[in-house]
Amino acid sequence: MAGRTRTTKKLAQRINLNYFKTLHGIPRWRRILSGVFTLAGLAWLGWHALAGSPKPYNAGPLAHSHALLGKKCSACHVAQAGFQRTATDQACLACHDGPVHHTEQTFTPSCSSCHVEHKGLLRMASTSDEACTQCHADLAAKDKNAPPKFVANIRGFDRTHPEFLALRPGHQDPGTIKFNHQVHLDPKRPVRGPHGPAQLKCADCHRPPGFTESWPFGTAEVTATTASFTLPDRSYMEPVNYEKHCSACHPLQFDRRFSESVPHKQPKVVYDFVVQKLTAYIAAHPAEIPLVDEPDKRLPTRPPQPPARNAQEWVQQRLADAQLLLWRKACKECHTLNYPAGFDALPEVAKATLTTRWLPHANFDHQAHRMVACESCHSKTMSSKETSDVLIPGVQSCRECHHSGSDAAEARCFECHTYHDWTKEKPATGPRTIQQLTE
Ligand code: HEC
Ligand code: HEC
Ligand code: HEC
Ligand code: HEC
Ligand code: HEC
Ligand code: HEC
Ligand code: HEC
Ligand code: HEC
Ligand code: HEC
Ligand code: HEC
Repeated sequence: MAGRTRTTKKLAQRINLNYFKTLHGIPRWRRILSGVFTLAGLAWLGWHALAGSPKPYNAGPLAHSHALLGKKCSACHVAQAGFQRTATDQACLACHDGPVHHTEQTFTPSCSSCHVEHKGLLRMASTSDEACTQCHADLAAKDKNAPPKFVANIRGFDRTHPEFLALRPGHQDPGTIKFNHQVHLDPKRPVRGPHGPAQLKCADCHRPPGFTESWPFGTAEVTATTASFTLPDRSYMEPVNYEKHCSACHPLQFDRRFSESVPHKQPKVVYDFVVQKLTAYIAAHPAEIPLVDEPDKRLPTRPPQPPARNAQEWVQQRLADAQLLLWRKACKECHTLNYPAGFDALPEVAKATLTTRWLPHANFDHQAHRMVACESCHSKTMSSKETSDVLIPGVQSCRECHHSGSDAAEARCFECHTYHDWTKEKPATGPRTIQQLTE
């Protein structure tokens, strides 16, 4: 019988009593690697510290317009000690001004509270609504005795943003040129044009500046394209103009003997023009002095005039008719005429007062909306009979596209408003050299 070779003592000797004191496998590597990485990290930090590089502190990519400053942290972070809250307004202002918003504002937020850095933004000017609503949700003016002149509780474009001032009750178009959009645009009854019925389009009278296509119902020259390398600003429409938009259908004839129109100018200029034309005519045709004209159907019926005895009398008679035709019919069709010096004196033409900016406290750009039909925004135009109608679209129509959430056009305040009063911008000083910015 074989003796027991494996005694418990022998077996016990085989147990590694230091098993739990020495490291094997994964734990061992874990320890080695954590040491190596810590040392590598410290070495990297030390290396950059020695080289004076800012890399270890980077908080995120700079905005696209500031990408050049990726190695120039000190351009914004003025203190050497660290990066927390060290990007001062003064540092920003060394490169470009950020003029104050409004003299009435009660405090001035810091540049970086609105313009967020280190997020790799395409546009730093795309600021959050809070940048504005911190004041505009409960607006106060510096002058305690003068409350804010503007609506004071705006929280967001699709929330409490007010209707635009020009469209609030009690506001109307202050223009004095009489015009009936419905009569001119009616698709069922095209107006009479110089070459037969004409179906007018908005662009026959309204275009942004700089298009060189000629005007279909105007006689005025289209402004020649002088060599220019910048496009004109096409945000707003050019104001309407008699020569460009009306003259072909509404000529200013003053006498059947002449096919030409009077100049579209102040009544005194028109008067002198008519006198000069008639005087020259009768001097060239003295035989016509005693002739009596057929009554003009456009004039009110009245007793026929006696035959003129001389050229001067002939001119006076025709001049009186021409004035009736002009002041009481032609000019009056579009203008309000006033007679401050009595009905025998020349009239005064009321100032046209065509509004060129309807929403002066916001920006708008027709070019950015050229995918939309004019009547779709200006929905009241086709039925408008009076100049006094305001045809500008209201806030609700903008909200159809500009509202919060995805699948919508931008609705944050900066899209439509300017914050800085750029008229107060200080000229750039440009203190740095190319080398200082790039090395
Ligand atoms: C164009 C100006 C600009 C430049 C250049 C710039 N920063 Fe900043 N940085 C800012 C602004 C603004 C802030 C936020 C306001 C603040 O805390 O001062 C900021 C904040 C920081 C913060 C703090 C982040 C936090 O969460 O508090 C760090 C870290 C930082 N920047 C590192 C850097 C480093 C590193 C560089 C260079 C690679 C750099 N910045 C270059 C403007 C700049
Ligand atoms: C209350 C928020 C706010 C503050 C504070 C602010 N800005 Fe602005 N900034 C804007 C908005 C919104 C725009 C875009 C509209 C505009 O041009 O006014 C803008 C535009 C700019 C632009 C021009 C952008 C472009 O399109 O060319 C510069 C430069 C600028 N800001 C610099 C500054 C500087 C510098 C400061 C600090 C002195 C500052 N801003 C403070 C909101 C702010
Ligand atoms: C070393 C110069 C420099 C400094 C410092 C600087 N910027 Fe700029 N900034 C530029 C340049 C260059 C542009 C691009 C040209 C332009 O748009 O005027 C720019 C553009 C901008 C714009 C408009 C472009 C956009 O993305 O909307 C804003 C806003 C702006 N900077 C804000 C700031 C703010 C806020 C600071 C301070 C934290 C600052 N900048 C510091 C040079 C500088
Ligand atoms: C520090 C407070 C403050 C901040 C921030 C502020 N505003 Fe104003 N804002 C005012 C004051 C004050 C007025 C003038 C009120 C008055 O005179 O009745 C004003 C007037 C306005 C007006 C009307 C007058 C004009 O100049 O066109 C608009 C539009 C406007 N702010 C838009 C903005 C936008 C957009 C922002 C954000 C980028 C903004 N505001 C941020 C205080 C502020
Ligand atoms: C889609 C364009 C758009 C957006 C987005 C927008 N507004 Fe307006 N806002 C306008 C227009 C247009 C007016 C009318 C301006 C006028 O009557 O001259 C206006 C008027 C104002 C006025 C003057 C109000 C008054 O008393 O007549 C203030 C203040 C104002 N906006 C602030 C803001 C603020 C703050 C935001 C962001 C929360 C904002 N707006 C967003 C287009 C916009
Ligand atoms: C035959 C020329 C003519 C045509 C065609 C014409 N308009 Fe006008 N429009 C005018 C005149 C003149 C005025 C200025 C008098 C007035 O305000 O009614 C004007 C003014 C306007 C105004 C600003 C005045 C306000 O009160 O809001 C708008 C907006 C406008 N038109 C839109 C249109 C649209 C949209 C079309 C096409 C559907 C159109 N117009 C077609 C001649 C024209
Ligand atoms: C295509 C030709 C045409 C053009 C262009 C045109 N008109 Fe007319 N207009 C007419 C005709 C035709 C009438 C008469 C319509 C009617 O009463 O049926 C008329 C009528 C008018 C009337 C009287 C309207 C009424 O209420 O009966 C006014 C005022 C007027 N036009 C102004 C203008 C002004 C201002 C322009 C330039 C901005 C203009 N028109 C451009 C053809 C035109
Ligand atoms: C078919 C419409 C129409 C007729 C007819 C018309 N005008 Fe005009 N008139 C306009 C328009 C539109 C304007 C504003 C834009 C411009 O100056 O062309 C205007 C502007 C004027 C102005 C400038 C007003 C100001 O704001 O100071 C004078 C002066 C004027 N007309 C005189 C006359 C006289 C005189 C007659 C008649 C001989 C006449 N007009 C006939 C459409 C007309
Ligand atoms: C997205 C809506 C929208 C569309 C589409 C649009 N407009 Fe406008 N339009 C406006 C607004 C908003 C204003 C007021 C701008 C201002 O003066 O501040 C305006 C103003 C005008 C004015 C007055 C003059 C001016 O520029 O302020 C005329 C005229 C006009 N539009 C004609 C047109 C014509 C013609 C078209 C088609 C080619 C058109 N609009 C398309 C929104 C629109
Ligand atoms: C059919 C949809 C639609 C409607 C309605 C609309 N917008 Fe827009 N708007 C857009 C889109 C899309 C853009 C962006 C275009 C771009 O970035 O070029 C835009 C851009 C803008 C811009 C910036 C323009 C620029 O220069 O980049 C302003 C300001 C604006 N809209 C104001 C308005 C106002 C005010 C109204 C109402 C009167 C309005 N929009 C109605 C779709 C719309």
